[in-house]
Amino acid sequence: MSSIIPLSSSKSNALSGTALSPGNKSISHRAVLLGALAVGETTITGLLESEDVHATVGALRALGATLEKRGEVWHLHGVGVGGLQQPTAPMDMGNSGTSTRLLAGLVATHPITTEFFGDASLSKRPMGRVIEPLSQMGATFAATDGKLPMTITGTKNPMPITYTLPVASAQVKSAIILAGLNTPGTTTVIEPTRTRDHTERMLRAMGANLTTEDLGHGATAIHITGYAELKPMHIVVPSDPSSTAFPMVAAAIVPGSDIFLPGVGMNETRTGLFICLEEMGAKLTYSNEREEGGEPVADIRVQYTELRGIDVSAERAPSMIDEYPILAVAAAYAQGTTRMRGLHELRTKESDRLTIMAEGLAACGAHTEIDGDDLIVHGTGKLAGATTIPTHLDHRIAMSFLVAGLNSDAPITIDDASPINTSFPTFVEMMTALGASIK
Ligand code: S3P
Repeated sequence: MSSIIPLSSSKSNALSGTALSPGNKSISHRAVLLGALAVGETTITGLLESEDVHATVGALRALGATLEKRGEVWHLHGVGVGGLQQPTAPMDMGNSGTSTRLLAGLVATHPITTEFFGDASLSKRPMGRVIEPLSQMGATFAATDGKLPMTITGTKNPMPITYTLPVASAQVKSAIILAGLNTPGTTTVIEPTRTRDHTERMLRAMGANLTTEDLGHGATAIHITGYAELKPMHIVVPSDPSSTAFPMVAAAIVPGSDIFLPGVGMNETRTGLFICLEEMGAKLTYSNEREEGGEPVADIRVQYTELRGIDVSAERAPSMIDEYPILAVAAAYAQGTTRMRGLHELRTKESDRLTIMAEGLAACGAHTEIDGDDLIVHGTGKLAGATTIPTHLDHRIAMSFLVAGLNSDAPITIDDASPINTSFPTFVEMMTALGASIK
């Protein structure tokens, strides 16, 4: 982890220009994980070069796969489904929940023992949600209170299961699917609410026997039949809507802004924030809608307009789960109340984002409330600022408050910007190129 870097943002002139967001973090993890299992050479362009993705790359090397970057292209030589080797040392997952949970699924159905550890934030996050289904498949776990450090002893005789997700989580869904790849028969995951489907799309493209079934009322069953040979392929990683969210909201709250965001991921399991912003009155113009790397993308122009408060249903949460911190900032700059419902999962992220956004925005002068699992922001169109926000090793808290400071009366400081490197190492450079005042 890098050393502590305090940063401040202050009232900026209108933002303008073009901002190309970095590679999609979820797709980057899956590209290296599945490339490491394919037989033959997988190549990847546009991979997100961030600490989280490098944690997955490091682990896959320790498990026997070959991953090398030459020029701008990553070249992977996979070990084949079932071919992972026993690592020789505990694996450092840094800040990355996605690396930990997806890799847990992968190793659970290999006869190897793997030890995972992580930073202070990751060590507080719940792993019981993967321990439970993967135990049913035959793996055994040692983890105090269901937290890292965690040792997984994979099984040589995995059992296919049918598992209904108790929480809407693409990480848990993906862990079970990855375990199912090296399991005889068909493993089924039922998700009551749709979550991001990047694992399913990529596995199908690589030739796995994966089907989905619409169960009605928003529920989906995903069936994966084990022991498929994955075909290597060239993967183009599109940009990340969760990263695009920051310049997008910045332009929506800084008067006069007009920015262009090319190649934004438009997978409908990820676009909840865009819908919310439009409901708030933001001016988003979509053009050049196309497919890149098997994912829908579009170019988006964002022009400043005044925002108004809205009511966001709990059903929308999975399609924008990482975007609530920055939506709360937009809500503070809107006129009227925004109620964001059903946010219990926000408490289990890199930090307790529900509490930290409510407290942080209040410290900036907003009137916020938490009612059960709902976050309520009474927007007045302005923030006072003049405060320092602790970021709690959470990249999205750090970026959200830097964006909040771009239109506050006095600057907003964050105590530590180094967590931004986990997902968006070029954030400050990109925002300052648009005209944001961040120092
Ligand atoms: C992710 C899924 C989400 C999200 C995380 C990335 C993924 O987590 O918050 O940043 O890549 O599958 P949950 O599955 O815990 O909701």
